Amino acid sequence: MSSNELQGYKKTLNSPYTGIKGWIDSRLPLIRMMEAEYLKFPVPKSLNYFWSFGGIAMFCLIGLILTGIFLGFHYKPSADDAFDSVERIMRDVSFGWLIRYLHANLVSFFFIATFVHIFRALYFGSYKAPRELVYIFGLTMFMLMMATAFLGYTLPWGQMSYWGATVITNLFSAIPVVGDAILTLLLGDFTVGDSAVNRFYVLHWLLAFAIVGLVVFHVITLHMTGSNNPTGTEPQSWDETVSFHPYVTIKDLNATIFFFIILAFILFYYPNILGHSDNYIKANPMVTPAHIVPEWYFLPFYAILRAIPDKLGGVIAMFSSILALGLLPWLDTSKVRSCLFRPIWRYCVLLFAVNFLVLMYVGGKPAEGLYVLISRIGTAYWFLFIFVLAPLVGFLETPRQPLTITNYLQSKKA
Ligand code: HEM
Repeated sequence: MSSNELQGYKKTLNSPYTGIKGWIDSRLPLIRMMEAEYLKFPVPKSLNYFWSFGGIAMFCLIGLILTGIFLGFHYKPSADDAFDSVERIMRDVSFGWLIRYLHANLVSFFFIATFVHIFRALYFGSYKAPRELVYIFGLTMFMLMMATAFLGYTLPWGQMSYWGATVITNLFSAIPVVGDAILTLLLGDFTVGDSAVNRFYVLHWLLAFAIVGLVVFHVITLHMTGSNNPTGTEPQSWDETVSFHPYVTIKDLNATIFFFIILAFILFYYPNILGHSDNYIKANPMVTPAHIVPEWYFLPFYAILRAIPDKLGGVIAMFSSILALGLLPWLDTSKVRSCLFRPIWRYCVLLFAVNFLVLMYVGGKPAEGLYVLISRIGTAYWFLFIFVLAPLVGFLETPRQPLTITNYLQSKKA
């Protein structure tokens, strides 16, 4: 290697700044990075409010970690103490009620933001090349979010915590050969009990930070390609972009404040509306609740689990419903990204969203009669959408010629 090449390799000498800023930046190039990847980062001019939900989800995650730290100061992870320590947080710790209600409701709002975020990815074709990895990291975070939320829900050690944990961990036993061994390893015992709550607490923390790590990868991969936008076409010139700051900063902040006002309304007026009252009864292994229902955001997947009459089949269907979504970038055969220009696929995606809500509804009902039939039809559509419609519609439909960003904005003004 020549000495010139060696100089080029040492990036630290090339800071564009002087003074203290230059001194820091030439050793730790964070300032340079922030300027390129945040302040000046070009984003398409045509982004609408759907593009604010990634940022909103990020704020929810930060809020969950901060409130989680304060809860962790007072929470005791043991079968004897967990329930009482949560009651103490609610009654004796200064603003403990606020921190706990905020943590519990932030989870729900995190899921709301993520569901809208996923819908946006599907509707505007953000999952398609070259953003496949952004989408795959997103789906991975979504699975970790579900695992983290499940583990967190067991911690207050109420009736629903206990029985929910019992039903869901029991699903592992359906896995042939190794299922029971995995279950025992997870619980540290043969039933959900003292060692389980300890392990769940550790894993709850661990997975929360794993999500933070994946957000970094999610955003790095996004910054390699830049954002998609409602037209699904890439910006043709600088004129079709704006800098991230101040344009997107202000827009995202606007959306986040509005979103958090709704959260505040729920938090201060109906803090328990998204939870289950049985969780205010201490866990009792001798008394089974009348209906064991998971939290609302699990219900669509719970419906899929129960739609299949066989335990192992249900578990496979439930997990593959999410994993299969990861194949969409390769199964969707259309050259056009955005549903704005796809006359048939648009309705398939909208039906997918409605189907998701229907599954959520039946997932909260007893697994009998019409509810089972509806959950079977819903499950069938879920897989039909991914494996049949995504490849087929690309061949069947004649998409409209997508507008450029400039033409799209002009057509909106007209
Ligand atoms: C922990 C949860 C998540 C966080 C914090 C997060 C954060 C973000 C942020 C900040 C952006 C850029 C702003 C935006 O386009 O909204 C983004 C983009 C994106 N996210 Fe997520 N995300 C999360 C989960 C997901 C999930 C579950 C999926 C899909 C299954 C996903 C798919 C995408 C895609 C495809 C983009 C690129 C969008 C585009 O350019 O059109 N994300 N995400």
